[in-house]
Amino acid sequence: MSEIVLGVCGGVAAYKAALLTRLFTEAGHGVAVVPTESALEFVGRATWEALSGRPVQTGVFENVHEVPHVRLGQHADLVVVAPATANTLAKAAAGMADDLVTNTLLTARCPVLMAPAMHTEMWEHAATQANVVTLRERGVTVVDPAVGRLTGSDTGAGRLPDPEQIYAVALALLAGHPRDLVGRHVVVTAGGTREYLDPVRFLGNRSSGLQGVALAEAAVARGASVTLIAANVAVSTPAGVELVEVVSTEELRVAATEAARSADAVVMAAAPADFRPVARSDAKIKKRADGQAPTIELVENPDILVELVGQRTGESPVIVGFAAETGDGNGSVLDHARAKLARKGCELLVVNDVSAGKVFGREDNEAVLLSSDGSAQEVPLAHKSVLAHAIWERVATLLSEDRNS
Ligand code: CTP
Repeated sequence: MSEIVLGVCGGVAAYKAALLTRLFTEAGHGVAVVPTESALEFVGRATWEALSGRPVQTGVFENVHEVPHVRLGQHADLVVVAPATANTLAKAAAGMADDLVTNTLLTARCPVLMAPAMHTEMWEHAATQANVVTLRERGVTVVDPAVGRLTGSDTGAGRLPDPEQIYAVALALLAGHPRDLVGRHVVVTAGGTREYLDPVRFLGNRSSGLQGVALAEAAVARGASVTLIAANVAVSTPAGVELVEVVSTEELRVAATEAARSADAVVMAAAPADFRPVARSDAKIKKRADGQAPTIELVENPDILVELVGQRTGESPVIVGFAAETGDGNGSVLDHARAKLARKGCELLVVNDVSAGKVFGREDNEAVLLSSDGSAQEVPLAHKSVLAHAIWERVATLLSEDRNS
């Protein structure tokens, strides 16, 4: 189990860091909570000590014989600062060390995760943005704040993401994934689209969005700026991504086409409905007195993946498709997948064998990564984040090859 230093700065969102502490300790990690003086104005020392099961220290002159300003950073596997105020971001960017949090940031050689929370004006200020750029260039993972209700009655960017979301990024950093997507913009589509027949009924599919969300999370952990286009995704979406919510295949198409323009990679993990009703009724379709069921006429939706491949200029963005296949009399899962890869024209196809209801809604997944160069890499059954990282590893390699050519 890992040793985590959790720096907590002064802000109302400090209460969420209490929940984060709990997530870490329940998973068996050791947590040294380091609240700043102002953090203690919001959540008291007793709470931190009770939740972490350890004494809590704020200043560099407490327990000096233990040399805490050096020891904490040196022994940490991960340093998390949540919430990180504009003030602490500025001090960290400037390399200042006037409290135990900033001292620890200078002595730590492990991954560092900072989750800013502040009012929108402070977050958007050029000084704060420049500090975030500096910190990211130095390898610090700074997750973008969430958009929503702030401390007062106002709303905007600046909310601390949910503790579960910060926790997920922290776990990825602890797992030691490389930061090979820093400076890259990637687009992930997730979930299943719906085609409404009337205000209450739709044609849909069983895609949960779990794999797409795992992909977005993994890309954030590897340092990418991520646009997640989510179609009816029921699970909570990761911190630090730009979220675009869509319902129908057409909405997904518009959002993906727009986002792909500035993307280095697009991963089409979503399951778009292949057909939509020719007409959508504005009123709920009623049962008929004669017991006759209505006939719904369908029209085929455009294949977004094929369109994206056709629209790109040169080799950018790298495009990854998914294929849910079953073997049949005409060929094996891989035979069908190879034909699909050729048809779609993307670089990589993630092939899931969906015979017997595998994959949908489950936390784990196995797949074959089929490449346009003919290779087939098996990713054995594991949590969907394992497959997500295997995909990004391949994408990062393709991107670096593109760069060198
Ligand atoms: N896809 C897409 N637009 C669609 C349908 C699918 O972009 N209208 C993408 C999916 O996101 C996925 C890939 O295409 O990445 C494979 O989808 P699939 O439905 O398996 O492909 P189809 O061409 O519809 O093949 P099949 O005939 O096997 O259904």
